[in-house]
Amino acid sequence: MAPMSARITGWGRYAPERVLTNADLEKLVDTSDEWIRSRTGIRERRVAAPHETTATLAAVAGKRAIAVAGLEPDDVDLILVGTLTPDYWMPSTAALVKEAIGNTRAAAFDVMAACSGFVYAYATADAFIRAGTYRNVLVIGAELLTRFLDFSDRNTCILFGDGAGAVVVSASDEEGGGMAGMEMTTDPDGAYMIWLPSGGSKSPPSSETIRRGEHYVRMEGKETYRYATKTLATSALKAIERAGWDPGEVDLFIPHQANIRIIESVAKGLGLPMDKMFVNVDRYGNTSAASVGIALAEAVDSGRVQLGDKIVFVAFGAGFTSGAAAVTWTADPLHGKRADSVVPTASVRAPVDWDSVDPMPARLMAVLAERDGVQVPLDDVVPGEPEPAHREVLA
Ligand SMILES: CC(C)(COP(=O)(O)OP(=O)(O)OC[C@H]1O[C@@H](n2cnc3c(N)ncnc32)[C@H](O)[C@@H]1OP(=O)(O)O)[C@@H](O)C(=O)NCCC(=O)NCCS
Repeated sequence: MAPMSARITGWGRYAPERVLTNADLEKLVDTSDEWIRSRTGIRERRVAAPHETTATLAAVAGKRAIAVAGLEPDDVDLILVGTLTPDYWMPSTAALVKEAIGNTRAAAFDVMAACSGFVYAYATADAFIRAGTYRNVLVIGAELLTRFLDFSDRNTCILFGDGAGAVVVSASDEEGGGMAGMEMTTDPDGAYMIWLPSGGSKSPPSSETIRRGEHYVRMEGKETYRYATKTLATSALKAIERAGWDPGEVDLFIPHQANIRIIESVAKGLGLPMDKMFVNVDRYGNTSAASVGIALAEAVDSGRVQLGDKIVFVAFGAGFTSGAAAVTWTADPLHGKRADSVVPTASVRAPVDWDSVDPMPARLMAVLAERDGVQVPLDDVVPGEPEPAHREVLA
């Protein structure tokens, strides 16, 4: 039977321990801390350890969201993972996450909408629940972008970082709450503005594609910037309109964290002050499909979201995709404390007859090893999520 509403009941995030600063990047490419901060707002980003994968990051964030929702892993009926950096082309990362979190009964699949992945996956979860098909859906945005970056290309390698954010969406027999309005768009005109050329059927991997560096993210920064500023504002407005709200009524926007200037321009476009925009791009960079999930969990846990608040998720990404969701918050923010009991590690079963090569980009590893003195062994155990190096909030 269809429920009265589909509400967010759990949230969680995980960011790998190791920090890559702008000063580290100065050693890799011709750039400066000043340039990166002033053009993007990014001060640092996280880099996954060699033993971590997109699925392990996703599993930790997912386990935290399940704990916050007060559920057990087997209560989850469907697992959706938004990612553009899956562990493998197949099986899906969601299938690996299912096993890693100890769920035996859920259906699981990935949602590929690049940086809009979390919002698209959340909209999918909402639809399944409202249709009465499932009662608890785990939605995760997870990304391990540092393994798909050319650390000699200053146009891209300064922007992205690793991490995962998750929510549990649950059927409720109470009316109201949850998603009140939604908008999703895809504009193939922008198909080649951010893309990763090789590895798919058009250009299967070969020594030649690797020689050409086609296994790395490519981006036309200016065109992407122009699209982002326009579409974030229009997508958010559509979702707000469908909710029957006025933009001024929204308590907090959780925008995709790509660039502080893009977020500022959206605030300006909507005629809203920057304190209505949640910002953490300074500490994580662009974590693609993970960014809205990480930002949401951080916003709730830091007291920026209260019961009954009107919040808006809005994202854009390769494709060009864009998505926004206007959401009435119904969960007690104090439930976030339940995530503290979750050990921040996860392991994904490896095949018995196969071992991967060292996954870390050599240039990145050289700079980190020079800075930290030691290389993290492949079988290192992830310690607790550390305090970020600093907590300044950008003006
Ligand atoms: C990438 C981005 C930060 C570049 O900022 P910008 O203000 O547009 O900068 P420009 O591309 O005009 O470059 C200005 C100059 O800085 C240089 N530059 C580019 N990257 C640089 C870097 N990392 N460090 C130093 N200089 C750099 C350029 O070569 C250019 O030099 P020139 O004037 O001598 O030609 C910006 O376009 C952007 O954020 N785009 C959107 C990207 C995005 O969000 N992608 C993810 C989508 S989900």
